[in-house]
Amino acid sequence: MQTSTHEWLTTTRAAAEARVTALALRLGGAFLHATDAGRYLPLDADEWTSGFWPGLLLLTYRRTGDPALLAAAAHAEAELERAVCDDRLYLLHHDVGFQFSPTAVMRYKLTGDPTARRRAFLAANLLMGRFNPAGTGFIEAWNTEERRGLVIIDTMMNLPLLFWAADEFQQPRFRNVALAHAHTTLRTHVRPDGSTNHIVRFDQETGMPLETRGGQGYAPDSCWSRGQSWAFYGFALAYRYSRVPEFRAAAYRVANSFLATLPPEGVPPWDFGAPDVATAPRDSSAGAIAASGLLELAALLPPGEGKPFVAAATDLLMALAAHCGTADDPAHDALLRHATGNLPKGQNIDVALIYGDYYYLEALQKLDGLRETCW
Ligand code: GLY
Repeated sequence: MQTSTHEWLTTTRAAAEARVTALALRLGGAFLHATDAGRYLPLDADEWTSGFWPGLLLLTYRRTGDPALLAAAAHAEAELERAVCDDRLYLLHHDVGFQFSPTAVMRYKLTGDPTARRRAFLAANLLMGRFNPAGTGFIEAWNTEERRGLVIIDTMMNLPLLFWAADEFQQPRFRNVALAHAHTTLRTHVRPDGSTNHIVRFDQETGMPLETRGGQGYAPDSCWSRGQSWAFYGFALAYRYSRVPEFRAAAYRVANSFLATLPPEGVPPWDFGAPDVATAPRDSSAGAIAASGLLELAALLPPGEGKPFVAAATDLLMALAAHCGTADDPAHDALLRHATGNLPKGQNIDVALIYGDYYYLEALQKLDGLRETCW
Protein backbone atom coordinates (compact mmCIF):
# COMPACT_ATOMS: atom_id res chain seq x y z
CA MET A 1 0.00 0.00 0.00
CA GLN A 2 1.30 3.46 -0.90
CA THR A 3 2.24 5.74 2.01
CA SER A 4 -0.45 8.29 1.11
CA THR A 5 -3.14 5.57 1.02
CA HIS A 6 -1.91 4.18 4.32
CA GLU A 7 -2.06 7.63 5.91
CA TRP A 8 -5.58 8.14 4.54
CA LEU A 9 -6.63 4.76 5.90
CA THR A 10 -5.19 5.33 9.39
CA THR A 11 -6.80 8.76 9.67
CA THR A 12 -10.18 7.68 8.29
CA ARG A 13 -10.38 4.54 10.42
CA ALA A 14 -9.38 6.36 13.62
CA ALA A 15 -11.90 9.14 12.92
CA ALA A 16 -14.66 6.55 12.41
CA GLU A 17 -13.77 4.80 15.67
CA ALA A 18 -13.73 8.16 17.49
CA ARG A 19 -17.20 8.96 16.18
CA VAL A 20 -18.56 5.59 17.31
CA THR A 21 -17.03 6.15 20.76
CA ALA A 22 -18.57 9.61 21.02
CA LEU A 23 -22.02 8.35 19.97
CA ALA A 24 -21.75 5.49 22.47
CA LEU A 25 -21.42 8.05 25.27
CA ARG A 26 -24.83 9.42 24.31
CA LEU A 27 -26.72 6.26 23.28
CA GLY A 28 -24.99 3.32 25.00
CA GLY A 29 -26.20 -0.13 23.86
CA ALA A 30 -29.17 1.00 21.75
CA PHE A 31 -30.69 -0.37 18.51
CA LEU A 32 -30.31 1.99 15.58
CA HIS A 33 -31.48 1.93 12.00
CA ALA A 34 -31.56 5.22 10.04
CA THR A 35 -30.82 8.89 10.65
CA ASP A 36 -33.24 11.78 10.66
CA ALA A 37 -31.45 15.12 10.12
CA GLY A 38 -28.14 13.56 11.08
CA ARG A 39 -29.41 11.86 14.25
CA TYR A 40 -29.88 8.12 14.80
CA LEU A 41 -33.18 7.37 16.52
CA PRO A 42 -33.20 4.29 18.82
CA LEU A 43 -35.66 1.50 17.89
CA ASP A 44 -36.82 -1.80 19.36
CA ALA A 45 -34.57 -4.87 19.41
CA ASP A 46 -36.75 -6.77 16.92
CA GLU A 47 -35.60 -4.68 13.92
CA TRP A 48 -33.46 -6.70 11.51
CA THR A 49 -30.70 -4.12 11.92
CA SER A 50 -30.49 -4.41 15.69
CA GLY A 51 -27.11 -6.18 15.66
CA PHE A 52 -25.21 -3.48 13.82
CA TRP A 53 -24.82 -0.75 16.44
CA PRO A 54 -23.64 -3.23 19.12
CA GLY A 55 -21.46 -4.66 16.34
CA LEU A 56 -19.93 -1.23 15.74
CA LEU A 57 -19.29 -0.95 19.47
CA LEU A 58 -17.40 -4.27 19.39
CA LEU A 59 -15.42 -3.37 16.24
CA THR A 60 -14.32 -0.20 18.01
CA TYR A 61 -13.72 -1.96 21.34
CA ARG A 62 -11.35 -4.44 19.74
CA ARG A 63 -9.16 -1.53 18.57
CA THR A 64 -9.42 0.80 21.55
CA GLY A 65 -10.03 -1.61 24.44
CA ASP A 66 -12.55 0.86 25.93
CA PRO A 67 -14.51 -1.26 28.49
CA ALA A 68 -17.56 1.03 28.25
CA LEU A 69 -18.04 -0.06 24.63
CA LEU A 70 -17.88 -3.75 25.57
CA ALA A 71 -20.35 -3.23 28.41
CA ALA A 72 -22.79 -1.36 26.13
CA ALA A 73 -22.60 -4.15 23.53
CA ALA A 74 -23.24 -6.81 26.21
CA HIS A 75 -26.23 -4.84 27.48
CA ALA A 76 -27.73 -4.71 23.96
CA GLU A 77 -27.09 -8.43 23.46
CA ALA A 78 -29.12 -9.27 26.59
CA GLU A 79 -32.04 -7.23 25.24
CA LEU A 80 -31.70 -9.04 21.88
CA GLU A 81 -32.09 -12.34 23.69
CA ARG A 82 -35.22 -11.07 25.45
CA ALA A 83 -36.63 -10.07 22.05
CA VAL A 84 -36.47 -13.64 20.76
CA CYS A 85 -37.83 -15.16 23.99
CA ASP A 86 -40.97 -13.05 24.44
CA ASP A 87 -43.85 -12.31 22.04
CA ARG A 88 -41.46 -10.67 19.60
CA LEU A 89 -40.38 -14.22 18.65
CA TYR A 90 -43.31 -14.28 16.21
CA LEU A 91 -41.69 -11.37 14.33
CA LEU A 92 -38.35 -13.13 13.98
CA HIS A 93 -37.08 -13.71 10.46
CA HIS A 94 -34.05 -14.91 8.47
CA ASP A 95 -32.07 -11.84 9.65
CA VAL A 96 -31.41 -13.47 13.01
CA GLY A 97 -27.85 -13.89 11.70
CA PHE A 98 -27.52 -10.15 11.14
CA GLN A 99 -28.73 -9.69 14.71
CA PHE A 100 -26.55 -12.23 16.50
CA SER A 101 -23.33 -12.57 14.47
CA PRO A 102 -22.07 -9.01 15.08
CA THR A 103 -23.15 -9.27 18.74
CA ALA A 104 -23.10 -12.66 20.50
CA VAL A 105 -20.73 -14.43 18.05
CA MET A 106 -18.33 -11.50 17.99
CA ARG A 107 -18.42 -10.95 21.75
CA TYR A 108 -17.79 -14.66 22.29
CA LYS A 109 -14.82 -14.54 19.93
CA LEU A 110 -13.45 -11.50 21.76
CA THR A 111 -14.09 -12.52 25.36
CA GLY A 112 -14.99 -16.22 25.51
CA ASP A 113 -18.06 -15.34 27.60
CA PRO A 114 -20.23 -18.50 27.80
CA THR A 115 -23.40 -16.37 27.90
CA ALA A 116 -22.55 -14.97 24.47
CA ARG A 117 -21.88 -18.51 23.19
CA ARG A 118 -25.25 -19.72 24.50
CA ARG A 119 -27.07 -16.82 22.85
CA ALA A 120 -25.33 -17.50 19.54
CA PHE A 121 -26.36 -21.17 19.81
CA LEU A 122 -29.95 -20.13 20.47
CA ALA A 123 -29.89 -17.84 17.41
CA ALA A 124 -28.40 -20.54 15.17
CA ASN A 125 -31.17 -22.92 16.24
CA LEU A 126 -33.80 -20.29 15.50
CA LEU A 127 -32.34 -19.79 12.01
CA MET A 128 -32.34 -23.57 11.49
CA GLY A 129 -36.03 -23.54 12.36
CA ARG A 130 -36.74 -21.51 9.22
CA PHE A 131 -35.42 -24.26 6.94
CA ASN A 132 -37.89 -25.89 4.59
CA PRO A 133 -36.45 -29.16 3.17
CA ALA A 134 -38.91 -29.21 0.22
CA GLY A 135 -37.13 -29.55 -3.13
CA THR A 136 -33.45 -28.78 -2.65
CA GLY A 137 -34.13 -26.96 0.62
CA PHE A 138 -34.24 -23.25 1.48
CA ILE A 139 -34.50 -20.90 4.44
CA GLU A 140 -37.77 -18.99 4.33
CA ALA A 141 -37.37 -15.28 4.94
CA TRP A 142 -40.54 -14.24 6.74
CA ASN A 143 -43.62 -15.51 8.59
CA THR A 144 -46.79 -13.73 7.50
CA GLU A 145 -49.14 -15.53 5.12
CA GLU A 146 -48.57 -13.23 2.15
CA ARG A 147 -44.78 -13.51 2.51
CA ARG A 148 -44.48 -17.27 2.99
CA GLY A 149 -42.23 -19.21 0.62
CA LEU A 150 -40.10 -16.16 -0.14
CA VAL A 151 -36.33 -16.62 -0.33
CA ILE A 152 -34.19 -13.51 -0.49
CA ILE A 153 -30.60 -12.94 -1.51
CA ASP A 154 -29.81 -11.21 1.82
CA THR A 155 -30.07 -14.55 3.64
CA MET A 156 -26.67 -15.48 2.20
CA MET A 157 -25.17 -13.11 4.77
CA ASN A 158 -27.00 -14.90 7.59
CA LEU A 159 -25.48 -18.29 6.80
CA PRO A 160 -22.18 -17.60 8.62
CA LEU A 161 -24.10 -18.01 11.89
CA LEU A 162 -24.87 -21.61 10.87
CA PHE A 163 -21.38 -22.36 9.54
CA TRP A 164 -19.87 -20.94 12.72
CA ALA A 165 -22.25 -23.01 14.91
CA ALA A 166 -21.36 -26.19 12.99
CA ASP A 167 -17.68 -25.68 13.82
CA GLU A 168 -18.13 -24.35 17.34
CA PHE A 169 -20.56 -27.07 18.50
CA GLN A 170 -19.27 -29.83 16.23
CA GLN A 171 -22.77 -30.36 14.81
CA PRO A 172 -22.79 -30.82 11.01
CA ARG A 173 -26.59 -30.27 10.84
CA PHE A 174 -25.96 -26.50 10.91
CA ARG A 175 -23.51 -26.72 7.99
CA ASN A 176 -25.79 -29.01 5.97
CA VAL A 177 -28.66 -26.56 6.15
CA ALA A 178 -26.39 -23.63 5.20
CA LEU A 179 -25.02 -25.62 2.25
CA ALA A 180 -28.49 -26.60 1.01
CA HIS A 181 -29.67 -23.00 1.17
CA ALA A 182 -26.54 -21.68 -0.59
CA HIS A 183 -26.82 -24.25 -3.41
CA THR A 184 -30.51 -23.42 -3.91
CA THR A 185 -29.79 -19.67 -3.90
CA LEU A 186 -26.99 -20.12 -6.42
CA ARG A 187 -29.41 -21.83 -8.81
CA THR A 188 -32.36 -19.49 -8.36
CA HIS A 189 -30.94 -16.05 -7.54
CA VAL A 190 -27.65 -15.69 -9.44
CA ARG A 191 -28.14 -14.93 -13.13
CA PRO A 192 -25.69 -16.03 -15.83
CA ASP A 193 -24.38 -12.45 -16.26
CA GLY A 194 -23.56 -12.16 -12.54
CA SER A 195 -26.51 -9.96 -11.63
CA THR A 196 -28.95 -11.26 -9.00
CA ASN A 197 -32.64 -11.62 -8.19
CA HIS A 198 -33.69 -10.12 -4.90
CA ILE A 199 -36.64 -12.41 -4.12
CA VAL A 200 -37.78 -15.78 -5.46
CA ARG A 201 -41.05 -17.31 -4.29
CA PHE A 202 -41.07 -21.08 -3.78
CA ASP A 203 -43.91 -23.56 -3.47
CA GLN A 204 -43.75 -24.45 0.21
CA GLU A 205 -44.85 -28.04 -0.36
CA THR A 206 -42.84 -29.01 -3.46
CA GLY A 207 -39.93 -26.58 -3.23
CA MET A 208 -40.44 -25.50 -6.87
CA PRO A 209 -39.36 -21.92 -7.63
CA LEU A 210 -42.51 -20.11 -8.82
CA GLU A 211 -41.74 -16.45 -9.54
CA THR A 212 -39.10 -13.74 -9.21
CA ARG A 213 -39.93 -10.50 -7.44
CA GLY A 214 -38.20 -7.11 -7.53
CA GLY A 215 -38.40 -6.70 -3.75
CA GLN A 216 -36.33 -3.70 -2.71
CA GLY A 217 -35.07 -3.32 -6.29
CA TYR A 218 -36.62 -1.52 -9.25
CA ALA A 219 -38.09 -4.57 -11.04
CA PRO A 220 -37.90 -8.39 -11.05
CA ASP A 221 -35.27 -8.30 -13.83
CA SER A 222 -33.29 -5.26 -12.61
CA CYS A 223 -30.40 -5.43 -10.19
CA TRP A 224 -30.70 -4.05 -6.64
CA SER A 225 -27.21 -2.91 -5.75
CA ARG A 226 -27.33 -3.94 -2.08
CA GLY A 227 -28.53 -7.37 -3.14
CA GLN A 228 -25.43 -7.66 -5.31
CA SER A 229 -23.25 -6.83 -2.30
CA TRP A 230 -25.05 -9.27 -0.01
CA ALA A 231 -24.69 -11.93 -2.70
CA PHE A 232 -20.98 -11.80 -3.35
CA TYR A 233 -20.00 -11.22 0.27
CA GLY A 234 -22.30 -14.11 1.28
CA PHE A 235 -20.97 -16.52 -1.35
CA ALA A 236 -17.38 -15.61 -0.47
CA LEU A 237 -18.12 -16.48 3.17
CA ALA A 238 -19.90 -19.70 2.18
CA TYR A 239 -16.77 -20.64 0.25
CA ARG A 240 -14.50 -19.72 3.16
CA TYR A 241 -16.36 -22.17 5.42
CA SER A 242 -17.13 -24.93 2.89
CA ARG A 243 -14.47 -24.72 0.13
CA VAL A 244 -17.22 -25.51 -2.41
CA PRO A 245 -15.63 -24.06 -5.59
CA GLU A 246 -18.98 -22.99 -7.12
CA PHE A 247 -19.51 -20.56 -4.24
CA ARG A 248 -16.21 -18.77 -4.87
CA ALA A 249 -16.91 -18.72 -8.60
CA ALA A 250 -20.32 -17.17 -7.90
CA ALA A 251 -18.79 -14.53 -5.61
CA TYR A 252 -16.23 -13.75 -8.32
CA ARG A 253 -18.86 -13.40 -11.02
CA VAL A 254 -21.23 -11.24 -8.97
CA ALA A 255 -18.38 -9.04 -7.70
CA ASN A 256 -17.18 -8.41 -11.23
CA SER A 257 -20.72 -7.58 -12.35
CA PHE A 258 -20.99 -5.13 -9.41
CA LEU A 259 -17.70 -3.43 -10.29
CA ALA A 260 -18.46 -3.28 -14.03
CA THR A 261 -21.74 -1.44 -13.37
CA LEU A 262 -20.43 1.07 -10.80
CA PRO A 263 -20.81 4.67 -12.00
CA PRO A 264 -17.63 6.77 -12.53
CA GLU A 265 -17.77 8.52 -9.13
CA GLY A 266 -17.71 5.10 -7.46
CA VAL A 267 -20.84 5.20 -5.27
CA PRO A 268 -23.50 2.64 -6.34
CA PRO A 269 -26.99 3.76 -7.31
CA TRP A 270 -29.77 2.05 -5.33
CA ASP A 271 -30.48 -0.18 -8.36
CA PHE A 272 -28.15 -0.69 -11.30
CA GLY A 273 -31.18 -1.07 -13.61
CA ALA A 274 -33.08 2.02 -12.45
CA PRO A 275 -34.21 4.01 -15.52
CA ASP A 276 -32.71 7.27 -14.23
CA VAL A 277 -29.58 5.51 -13.02
CA ALA A 278 -27.23 8.51 -13.53
CA THR A 279 -29.24 10.70 -11.18
CA ALA A 280 -31.02 8.07 -9.06
CA PRO A 281 -30.47 8.06 -5.28
CA ARG A 282 -27.21 6.44 -4.30
CA ASP A 283 -26.80 3.65 -1.76
CA SER A 284 -23.61 4.11 0.20
CA SER A 285 -24.52 1.03 2.28
CA ALA A 286 -24.29 -1.15 -0.85
CA GLY A 287 -20.84 0.35 -1.44
CA ALA A 288 -19.67 -0.30 2.13
CA ILE A 289 -20.90 -3.92 2.13
CA ALA A 290 -19.26 -4.40 -1.26
CA ALA A 291 -15.92 -3.01 -0.05
CA SER A 292 -15.83 -5.48 2.83
CA GLY A 293 -17.02 -8.31 0.56
CA LEU A 294 -14.31 -7.56 -2.01
CA LEU A 295 -11.66 -7.78 0.71
CA GLU A 296 -13.14 -11.10 1.87
CA LEU A 297 -13.07 -12.46 -1.66
CA ALA A 298 -9.54 -11.18 -2.28
CA ALA A 299 -8.27 -13.14 0.73
CA LEU A 300 -9.73 -16.35 -0.74
CA LEU A 301 -8.05 -16.03 -4.13
CA PRO A 302 -4.44 -16.60 -5.17
CA PRO A 303 -2.56 -13.31 -4.51
CA GLY A 304 -2.36 -12.32 -8.19
CA GLU A 305 -6.12 -12.69 -8.62
CA GLY A 306 -6.97 -11.11 -5.28
CA LYS A 307 -4.96 -7.93 -5.76
CA PRO A 308 -7.37 -6.20 -8.18
CA PHE A 309 -10.19 -6.74 -5.67
CA VAL A 310 -8.13 -5.12 -2.89
CA ALA A 311 -7.50 -2.16 -5.20
CA ALA A 312 -11.22 -1.97 -6.07
CA ALA A 313 -12.18 -2.09 -2.38
CA THR A 314 -9.70 0.70 -1.60
CA ASP A 315 -11.11 2.88 -4.42
CA LEU A 316 -14.63 2.17 -3.21
CA LEU A 317 -13.82 3.17 0.37
CA MET A 318 -12.12 6.36 -0.79
CA ALA A 319 -15.11 7.21 -3.00
CA LEU A 320 -17.48 6.62 -0.07
CA ALA A 321 -15.37 8.83 2.21
CA ALA A 322 -15.17 11.58 -0.42
CA HIS A 323 -18.83 11.63 -1.52
CA CYS A 324 -20.71 10.31 1.52
CA GLY A 325 -18.39 10.78 4.52
CA THR A 326 -19.36 13.04 7.43
CA ALA A 327 -15.89 14.40 8.22
CA ASP A 328 -17.18 17.91 7.40
CA ASP A 329 -19.92 17.67 10.07
CA PRO A 330 -18.63 16.67 13.52
CA ALA A 331 -22.21 16.78 14.90
CA HIS A 332 -23.48 14.07 12.51
CA ASP A 333 -24.13 10.73 14.24
CA ALA A 334 -23.23 8.53 11.29
CA LEU A 335 -20.15 7.65 9.27
CA LEU A 336 -21.76 7.63 5.80
CA ARG A 337 -24.59 9.68 4.30
CA HIS A 338 -26.50 8.96 1.07
CA ALA A 339 -27.81 5.46 1.69
CA THR A 340 -31.16 4.12 0.47
CA GLY A 341 -33.17 1.70 2.60
CA ASN A 342 -36.22 0.73 0.55
CA LEU A 343 -36.95 3.03 -2.37
CA PRO A 344 -40.03 1.21 -3.73
CA LYS A 345 -41.66 1.66 -0.31
CA GLY A 346 -40.39 5.24 0.00
CA GLN A 347 -38.53 4.33 3.20
CA ASN A 348 -35.19 5.80 4.27
CA ILE A 349 -34.05 7.48 1.07
CA ASP A 350 -30.82 9.51 1.19
CA VAL A 351 -30.16 8.94 4.88
CA ALA A 352 -27.43 7.22 6.85
CA LEU A 353 -28.09 3.54 7.62
CA ILE A 354 -26.47 1.75 10.53
CA TYR A 355 -25.41 -1.26 8.45
CA GLY A 356 -23.67 1.06 5.97
CA ASP A 357 -21.66 2.41 8.88
CA TYR A 358 -20.98 -1.09 10.20
CA TYR A 359 -19.57 -2.49 6.96
CA TYR A 360 -17.65 0.73 6.27
CA LEU A 361 -15.75 0.44 9.55
CA GLU A 362 -15.36 -3.33 9.10
CA ALA A 363 -13.86 -2.77 5.64
CA LEU A 364 -11.54 0.00 6.87
CA GLN A 365 -10.32 -2.29 9.66
CA LYS A 366 -9.87 -5.21 7.24
CA LEU A 367 -7.82 -3.04 4.91
CA ASP A 368 -5.78 -2.13 7.98
CA GLY A 369 -5.09 -5.77 8.89
CA LEU A 370 -8.22 -7.11 10.64
CA ARG A 371 -8.44 -10.86 9.98
CA GLU A 372 -11.24 -12.30 12.08
CA THR A 373 -14.64 -10.69 11.76
CA CYS A 374 -17.95 -11.78 13.26
CA TRP A 375 -18.95 -13.63 10.06
N1 GLY B 1 -31.79 -7.07 4.49
C1 GLY B 1 -32.59 -5.98 4.08
C2 GLY B 1 -31.87 -4.90 3.38
O1 GLY B 1 -30.76 -5.05 2.94
O2 GLY B 1 -32.44 -3.83 3.27
